[in-house]
Amino acid sequence: MLKIAVLASGSGTNLQSIIDNIESGNLDAKIEVVLSDKSEAFALERARKHHIDAVSIGRKSFGSKEDYEQEVAAVLKSYHVDLVVLAGYMRIVGKTILAAFSGRVMNIHPALLPAFPGLNAQDQAFQYGVKVAGCTVHFVDEGMDTGPIILQAAVPVQSGDTVDTLRQRILEQEHRIYPQAIQLFAKGRLKVEGRKVIVRN
Ligand code: GAR
Repeated sequence: MLKIAVLASGSGTNLQSIIDNIESGNLDAKIEVVLSDKSEAFALERARKHHIDAVSIGRKSFGSKEDYEQEVAAVLKSYHVDLVVLAGYMRIVGKTILAAFSGRVMNIHPALLPAFPGLNAQDQAFQYGVKVAGCTVHFVDEGMDTGPIILQAAVPVQSGDTVDTLRQRILEQEHRIYPQAIQLFAKGRLKVEGRKVIVRN
């Protein structure tokens, strides 16, 4: 059984969809720990409700990013996780965590990368006037939202959309493709070749 850690900074609806897919038997994984940089993150409550260990580690308690990441990596290692799943974790993961979990960190981003990396991606896309928005699951590398792409879903922009209605439809697709991508990893079906992720049969 694939052991995962989920890192989240906010509401945790992607965490919830991962939990729901595990509980309904669609995802062969176990969440060993949910970790947040924000003690008030609702994601932590979602974890506790499902009897999953919930850990909060504030960045401000550490002098440097490296010290902070060393603590995060130590906690993740103590749970012997195979995969680190970023689900609305609003920090750039640095080399300390990446070195500890090389090729085993995944992220979901609410845009069709490489367009609109960074913060408020749905808003960036909406303001730009795209006709097709979407979301991307990718492996994490040292860049910002630049790692090899695993799955994407397109979300057409409708006339009458506001950024909020668009954000909501993108989120529905995030909830669908993130558990799928984790399941592909769990089944050993993902192979990274340079920039490309090959999905094996
Ligand atoms: C999601 O839309 C996710 O794609 C985004 O934050 C939201 C978290 O929602 N992540 C990023 O923008 C990362 N750069 P959630 O807490 O309800 O899962």
